[in-house]
Amino acid sequence: MNTLMDTANLTTKRPPGPPTPWLGLPLLRSMRRDYLGFMQQTQKTYGDIAYMRHGYEHAYDLFSPDLMREALVDNVEHFIRWERGISVFEEAFGQSVLVTEGDTWKRQRRMLTPVFSARHIAGYAALMTAAARRALGDTVPASETNAVVDVEALMARVTMDVIMRVLFSSSAEADARDAATATQILSATAMNEMYWPFTVPMWLPWPGNGKKRWAFRTLRGLVHRHIEERRRTPAGDAPADDLLAILLAARDEENPTLGLSAKELFDQCMVLFQAGHETSATALVWWSRLVAERADVSQRIQKEINDVLQGREPTAADAPRLDYLQATLKEAMRLYPPIPALMSRRAVRDVQLGGWTIPRGSLVRIAPWVAHHDARWFADPEAFRPERFVAGAESPPRGAWMPFGAGPRVCIGQHFAMLEMTLVAAMLMQRYAVSIDKVNSERPEGVMNVTLRPRGGMRVRFSRTT
Ligand code: HEM
Repeated sequence: MNTLMDTANLTTKRPPGPPTPWLGLPLLRSMRRDYLGFMQQTQKTYGDIAYMRHGYEHAYDLFSPDLMREALVDNVEHFIRWERGISVFEEAFGQSVLVTEGDTWKRQRRMLTPVFSARHIAGYAALMTAAARRALGDTVPASETNAVVDVEALMARVTMDVIMRVLFSSSAEADARDAATATQILSATAMNEMYWPFTVPMWLPWPGNGKKRWAFRTLRGLVHRHIEERRRTPAGDAPADDLLAILLAARDEENPTLGLSAKELFDQCMVLFQAGHETSATALVWWSRLVAERADVSQRIQKEINDVLQGREPTAADAPRLDYLQATLKEAMRLYPPIPALMSRRAVRDVQLGGWTIPRGSLVRIAPWVAHHDARWFADPEAFRPERFVAGAESPPRGAWMPFGAGPRVCIGQHFAMLEMTLVAAMLMQRYAVSIDKVNSERPEGVMNVTLRPRGGMRVRFSRTT
């Protein structure tokens, strides 16, 4: 199936790992049941690097910050992304920067990088606050002083509205509900398909294929409609500074006559739309729950917001001054990283990691979840302690906190996401006090659907403060 795998040198001594009877296939069942729990248990039992076999696949799991960075940063040129994950994503995101490799990836990443520069991102702040104002305004009905809020729906609405405004200068309200459902269907399907060796063609009458077809149609239709509208708009009347305008004008600095092809443009819009809202929404969902559980944390955030903002709306310039609020967001992403695992890579030659030889063709898996919950890097790891991330606190070892990945393929939208989450969280806390009560006293557990969703949804009580 894969020439790299056929020629792998597998006689080398291997790190310890679980026994793999039946070619390790039963292990896949355990992983499917609880991937993150399985990985944590593997680390506890076998240490920071573990080997296991599933069928033809020889997999190495890396758990320490040093080993994860050795793979993602120091030896980046010796790995490509795991083809199965990529082929699942490729169905949704085509030949976009999330999926491509080699020179195509380098060219796309080069062209997209300026779009996410500090200057451009600061320019999006007003769009972010406009989206937050709109969604937060009617979260608690005007006739009530408080309400139990479905924060998954709320955060999906805000972050989708943000990305629609930033990408297309359009509000998401009209498309939001269908697009949110479509996003969730695609994430859940993608997670399932990762365990299959191939993807069932979408035209086959296969369980789930009908829903999947609808989800693709919905999202592709949305992106296609906005691009077509823009192409029809006379140049002088079209927005000049949204992401679509910037992508249309983007040229490769090494070859200034080259822009993005129509297909590449569509694929980048799809990936920015998807990657750009679901992850930030997931982070805000867990953050709101963690803050709601802790009156002391929520009061400290409110005090900081009052001191810095004095009742006005936040801007990009305020974000660095909201140090404690940002620490709560970082700590929430430590406990519940929106992408807790699946940063998997294939070795394209023999690689030395932590003194072990990883033979060419092997799979290397990275699950930041495990390091995020490791007491060696974070004392009392299950406790929500924003103080770990305030200015001046002792930093964890490099790579121990890795919600955005690391190395050249680090999340291109990380600064965008931090600004967006800070502005939305600040505006939420300006309007509401968040708490939990009998109806929602149990914190839901996380379910990995590519992103880490709360099982059974997430509800938080919002009480007006103004
Ligand atoms: C809290 C929010 C976010 C989190 C936790 C997050 C996380 C990640 C992670 C872990 C990766 C690397 C995956 C790997 O190495 O295999 C990644 C890549 C990426 N992210 Fe994000 N992301 C977030 C927000 C965003 C936003 C807002 C955008 C765009 C508007 C975005 C666009 C991308 C793209 C395009 C890539 C692929 C980069 C490449 O391969 O060169 N992300 N993200």
